Amino acid sequence: MLHSRRPMTHESRKSSGSYYTPDATAASLVSWAVRTDADRMLDPSCGDGRFLSGHRNSTGVEQNAQAVKGAMERAPWATIHESDFFTWAGQTAERFEAAAGNPPFIRYQRFTGQVRAKALSLCASLGAHFSSLTSSWAPFLVATAALLRPGGRIAFVVPAEIGHAPYAVPLLQYLAAHFEHVQIIAVREKIFAELSEDCWLLYAEGFGGSTNRFRFTPLSTFERMDAPPASGMDVPLDEWKAWNYRLRPFLMSKASRDLYRANCEAPTTRRLGQIARVGIGYVTGANEFFHLSPSMASKLGIPDHVLHPSVRNGRALNGESVSMTTVRKWLLDDEPVLLLRLKKGQKLPASVERYLSTDRAAEAREAYKCRMREPWYVVPDVTIPDAFLSYMSGDGVSLVANRATCVGTNSVHVIHLTGGMSLGMVQQCWKDPIAQLSCELEGHPLGGGMLKVEPREAGRLILADRPPSPVDDKLILAGISEMQKWRHYA
Ligand SMILES: C[S@@+](CC[C@H](N)C(=O)[O-])C[C@H]1O[C@@H](n2cnc3c(N)ncnc32)[C@H](O)[C@@H]1O
Repeated sequence: MLHSRRPMTHESRKSSGSYYTPDATAASLVSWAVRTDADRMLDPSCGDGRFLSGHRNSTGVEQNAQAVKGAMERAPWATIHESDFFTWAGQTAERFEAAAGNPPFIRYQRFTGQVRAKALSLCASLGAHFSSLTSSWAPFLVATAALLRPGGRIAFVVPAEIGHAPYAVPLLQYLAAHFEHVQIIAVREKIFAELSEDCWLLYAEGFGGSTNRFRFTPLSTFERMDAPPASGMDVPLDEWKAWNYRLRPFLMSKASRDLYRANCEAPTTRRLGQIARVGIGYVTGANEFFHLSPSMASKLGIPDHVLHPSVRNGRALNGESVSMTTVRKWLLDDEPVLLLRLKKGQKLPASVERYLSTDRAAEAREAYKCRMREPWYVVPDVTIPDAFLSYMSGDGVSLVANRATCVGTNSVHVIHLTGGMSLGMVQQCWKDPIAQLSCELEGHPLGGGMLKVEPREAGRLILADRPPSPVDDKLILAGISEMQKWRHYA
């Protein structure tokens, strides 16, 4: 891997997005991007130079000094700039026939400060408007493409998030507006064995032109290839938009897709967001401190009226409802499910005053969320929802009625009905497998076989009132199984 004197730690690799590309993948991308020996090729984040080593006339940019040394050893003929790429890209007058590489995948939480500010303003000047929630690789590719000569090609490794993440939309729009042909190859088998994220490949050619479609090619494994496969399907930009700017739905068969779409458009179908508010549960900042077991509460003498049973995580969401029987069982098992629910301005019972002056409390109030609120011991946004939704799951997402007036932490989503459908009807629709297919299509894979549904995505889940149809059921189940296979849940 990295040819440096000191091996990188997992943390430093993660913060700089330093996961280097297997040789067969790098060679495949370079051999297509570069058409003649005279072509100038750019790798905007060249790491130890494994893309540069595939072509004599190459230029690399890399901010890490050790990696630059490795690249110089590997590709002594290449021109290598030790710099932040966006700083260099904003100043250079050089232009290239080709660009290939593997941009750093640095998530928005770490892609911050000057580098992000430069990246976003450079891309905005090129007509691609990224929000601060973007991961680094998307602006990297826009800024790289803008350095091509007319007719130029790019070939890059990209995270599979290109198939669903909202922040990838400005990139894909930019590519369609500036290239004659854009192809995305979804690869099911991992290209990077050590990464939990899946990687796909992006090929674009004919810089200076434009297209009204993407070519999308799902492959189960990636093998060394000199050009992207001709197979695949054309996804018109309008279709992509109709699928909420996602390519992932095109991983399943057209028949399953058409059926899902017809159900979305059926007059009786509702999106969850049309009949409910979906949000995250409350955030205490110090869960251990704020959740007591019955024995602990009784030892501390905390009265019942400031304690409220809570759904602490998705594992508690079994069956169709959280009932009084469920809660009684939690209490009998002495589980720490009682939220210390204090209100602003409330006169505190003496036992609570004592608890708030313990060493445990002193530790809890130092937690970031507690420090940020006044008074620190009042947990905000505690509500009693109509239902809960598990938002991270392997096989399926649960929607569970709240029959015991519980509250819920931010490890589950809370659902408040706003009208238009009774909870009974919602749950009836939830039993239909099309609701699970909806979770697969509107949610997103999280790695390790898990599926995640953000509140924004949950609002798009469909509740369909379908007539029974074994033929349709088969298509729906096939769609679910295909999507599960792609997120490695098997
Ligand atoms: C995913 S690695 C890819 C390296 C190489 N292209 C490969 O695939 O083997 C990404 C590289 O980007 C570099 N990098 C991260 N942020 C950068 C920035 N703002 N400018 C230049 N290089 C950067 C990291 O140091 C890392 O070497």
